[in-house]
Amino acid sequence: MMLSGKNVVLGITGGIAVYKSAELCRLFIKAGAKVRVVMTEAAKAFVTPLTFQTLTGSPVYDQLFIGSERFSVEHVGLAQEADLIVIAPATANTIGKIANGIADNLLTTTVMAAKCPILLAPAMNTQMYDNPFHLANLERLQNFGYAVVGPDQGELACGDTGRGRMSSPQEIFAAACRLLLRKEAWQGRRLLVTAGPTQEALDPVRFLTNHSSGKMGYAIAQAAAELGADVTLVSGPVTLPQPYGVDFVSVTTAQEMYEAVLACFSNMDVVVGAAAVADYRPGTVSEQKIKKSGELIISLTRNPDILAALGRMKQRQILVGFAAETENLREHALAKLERKNLDLIVANDLTQPGAGFGTDTNIVTLYFRDGRERQLEKLPKREVAIMLLEEINALLTAAEEEN
Ligand code: PMT
Repeated sequence: MMLSGKNVVLGITGGIAVYKSAELCRLFIKAGAKVRVVMTEAAKAFVTPLTFQTLTGSPVYDQLFIGSERFSVEHVGLAQEADLIVIAPATANTIGKIANGIADNLLTTTVMAAKCPILLAPAMNTQMYDNPFHLANLERLQNFGYAVVGPDQGELACGDTGRGRMSSPQEIFAAACRLLLRKEAWQGRRLLVTAGPTQEALDPVRFLTNHSSGKMGYAIAQAAAELGADVTLVSGPVTLPQPYGVDFVSVTTAQEMYEAVLACFSNMDVVVGAAAVADYRPGTVSEQKIKKSGELIISLTRNPDILAALGRMKQRQILVGFAAETENLREHALAKLERKNLDLIVANDLTQPGAGFGTDTNIVTLYFRDGRERQLEKLPKREVAIMLLEEINALLTAAEEEN
């Protein structure tokens, strides 16, 4: 529960994107945060408070002058309790009011009384977004230290196309996590993750590859970014969207992945090798499409072993590998831990349903250099990622204390 103990005020203003705010609210609650929802009158024209009351299990706050049992002065109580205020959707009207010091409803007064970080997720018609008054208001707020996520480009509810779509709930949640957790464990830590398969060309139309979807590596990169780490994701070809808030390097072959990883290794504190890197590539790549003519024998050449190379070079870095095995899981994983000079290896047993390639869950055992072992139950890859990051952080802290 990454956000347990955190208090989030979710401010909702009147825009069609409000339907995404329910999902955002659910993401906060699932992560363990306590959410108090403040709605403007315009927001209530789009969705009833009952939706958010049901999701949070608490009343929705919408009245400036009615005291509640919880707070004697509503806006001050909400502001003092909050670790973060997120306004999603944030309309041009509310952004304009805040930027100009207007506090005429519960949300804007709460913002004015707050000392915590404030995150705005603008959502409006593209002409309104590009209006110089609005852009100046947004810039003014950013200069005052307000964080802004989005908006995205695309088709808008009014039929126009352009800037103005509210970011996805996942993107807003990721930005919120960065603000909530950035002062904590992972701030200033630099983590490189490899993910996905590599593709090794045989000819212009064929390649050798494997079943990696990138889900495991992307979950690690996304969770680390949400925890405040500076994340570089080196990814083979996958169909997943780029995680929010990471430096993204796209590669195709094992050789390209090797070069991309080595280029930034010296700046990293941690490398997690979740990619399924092809151990071999065709010895020669045919310039033209290979034609059928009886038996075809392909000779293969060894690719560089990225983690093994890092294991030879490493100084202070923590190196984490994965092992995808179909037999003798423990034995093979421990051999790789040793051979590649890793600090930790995450072994997935490919014979178990719900583990390994392509699935949304994984079943892994962690093997540490100091001989410890930790078996995790079947969990969503995101949960596996969070638990793995907790273990890596403990290794980093222990190494720092030693030095
Ligand atoms: O992408 P998903 O569909 O979510 O699936 C996740 C996964 C199964 C791909 C992932 O959890 C996983 O196990 N990744 C490593 C798979 C693998 O190729 O393991 P390996 O035993 O071949 O390699 C061991 C380690 O060395 C891995 O960390 C690998 O990234 C690294 N390696 C391997 C070969 C090579 N040439 N260079 C490397 O760095």
